[in-house]
Amino acid sequence: MTASGCKNLLIVNGPNLNLLGTREPHIYGASTLADIEQLCIVTAESQGFTVDCFQSNHEGDLVDAIHSAAGDAAGIVINAGAYSHTSIALRDALAGVGLPVVEVHVSNVHKREEFRHFSYLSAVSDAVIVGAGISGYRMAVEYLTERI
Ligand code: DQA
Repeated sequence: MTASGCKNLLIVNGPNLNLLGTREPHIYGASTLADIEQLCIVTAESQGFTVDCFQSNHEGDLVDAIHSAAGDAAGIVINAGAYSHTSIALRDALAGVGLPVVEVHVSNVHKREEFRHFSYLSAVSDAVIVGAGISGYRMAVEYLTERI
């Protein structure tokens, strides 16, 4: 399906988010990536949307996934993990496909180390949700389904 009339969203998760559930639970909580993906699926379906979920620990694979959204998705939810703070390539990929984007971070990056305060992705995102735990993904999906 082309982006026009498309009711599909791409959910992108970056490095180390596959470890959610066991990774620093005092910061990220007990929920797993599978829990997040299920939350996105259920939220999207309740609004008549579908989702494709993608996770990778490799920057180029994340770029490729964003490019693939150009014909397959009407919006993108992305938690690029640490690449948020380092990757001009991911920023350019999001700008390049020109789809609505919501950036999500499970933790409140602004309460943490200073190197987490800046994200290359925020300036090319329509909305940024930080510190809401995995509910941030639900909010991001709702934001996109309300606007597409
Ligand atoms: C994160 C915050 C990033 O700073 C960190 O590198 C992550 C997870 C979050 O969801 O809170 O991997 O994106």
